[in-house]
Amino acid sequence: MKNYPGKKASALIERDLSVVSPSYPRAFPFAMDHGKGSEVWDVDGNRFLDFAAGIAVASTGHSHPQVVKAIQEQAEKFLHISSDFYHEKWIELSEKLAEIAPFEEDARVFLTNSGTESVEAAIKLARYHTGRSGFIGFLGGFHGRTMGALAFTASKAKYKRGFGPVMDGVIHAPYPNTYRPLLASRKGEGYGETVVRYIEEEIMGRVMPGDEIAGIVIEPIQGEGGYIIPPPEFFPALRELCDKYGILLIADEVQAGMGRTGKWWSIENFGVEPDIVTSAKGIASGVPLGAMIARKSVMTWKTGAHGNTYGGNPLACAAACETIDLIGESFMQNAAEVGAYALDALEEIAAHHPSIGDVRGKGLMIGVDFVKDQETREPAGAFRDRVSDLAFERGTITLGCGESTIRVSPPLNITKAEIDEGLRAFDEAIGIAEKEK
Ligand SMILES: Cc1ncc(COP(=O)(O)O)c(C=O)c1O
Repeated sequence: MKNYPGKKASALIERDLSVVSPSYPRAFPFAMDHGKGSEVWDVDGNRFLDFAAGIAVASTGHSHPQVVKAIQEQAEKFLHISSDFYHEKWIELSEKLAEIAPFEEDARVFLTNSGTESVEAAIKLARYHTGRSGFIGFLGGFHGRTMGALAFTASKAKYKRGFGPVMDGVIHAPYPNTYRPLLASRKGEGYGETVVRYIEEEIMGRVMPGDEIAGIVIEPIQGEGGYIIPPPEFFPALRELCDKYGILLIADEVQAGMGRTGKWWSIENFGVEPDIVTSAKGIASGVPLGAMIARKSVMTWKTGAHGNTYGGNPLACAAACETIDLIGESFMQNAAEVGAYALDALEEIAAHHPSIGDVRGKGLMIGVDFVKDQETREPAGAFRDRVSDLAFERGTITLGCGESTIRVSPPLNITKAEIDEGLRAFDEAIGIAEKEK
């Protein structure tokens, strides 16, 4: 175990403090030098296992040689031409995304530079296409920080503090969280149905008529809000509700998509087709890129309605094409297999740690929820932070999410041996934190 930060990292952090915006929530005093696969090294030569992948971004691991080569080859040709023109990598990427889009109907693709821009594009398209202005979002959801996406973000109030008013017309429903439900179910009703009934009876019935709602924006597995998985009956009921009122179902796959859950899109775990999908993060292995993918019949906007300067940037498109090939060839399969292995191992760890209330996950999107008491399930946020710090000191980087959860979201090509190594540090960290209590 070493003392962090080292000399070089400390010096960098000091420079950072005097010039970089103080708004960034720095998780650890980790100043990166380089990375390879699931391993990263700081500027003082300390090696860490990366169970966070830069918030679920480094999908193919750090600096995968094929992705690097694709970027280098493209960089030698040209760096930019703008969305006023055509180039092949842009078209190739759109073809790949249309091919894997989670609906039968043909798809159309709009490229962006980030998750929040993909969500903005989805919001605008939904309003444009339906001619309606209202939306439903979910408590605990995270969709970005620009004024439209921010209106949906409801994971922590601090993201909105001082920035209002945000975009009008968004009403939030409880997310279908069966571990900590907010609503009371009727006899014989699954909690997923309870949430959908709440939307229809309470929101549409009392606040915003269903036929004035353009879209329902939802993370099929909630990310920042705590890695929460809806029960199986939820999405079929939600899809039915959307169809009944002519509402677009918008799946925000920025964090959970791109093979992370063992399927291209996390909504595919629930057997329904959305109308619009938003993507970013893992799509280009870390090069900034996002996408908004819609059914052809929905992407009805006219020339000039929406655009951007950098969308379809050739470096990002080259990285994304290679990333999608790697994920499709084997990394998605690896996410399913190694994810199941990690989930089993974490359940074993949970069995001997009373501080763990719940372990849940699909593929390599796994949450470990810490509680003050197994019965009341009261979130143990400070304890979670302590565990994450102790794991960091033992060479494993993890990030928190929700009130009391640690997320395991490593690169999709992580090995079982690396999972074992990281979980040993995690297990030890929990043990120490429990003794400190
Ligand atoms: C589900 C989801 N949507 C949107 C965003 C916003 O993405 P970005 O930070 O690239 O704007 C995030 C980022 O964490 C996210 O997890």
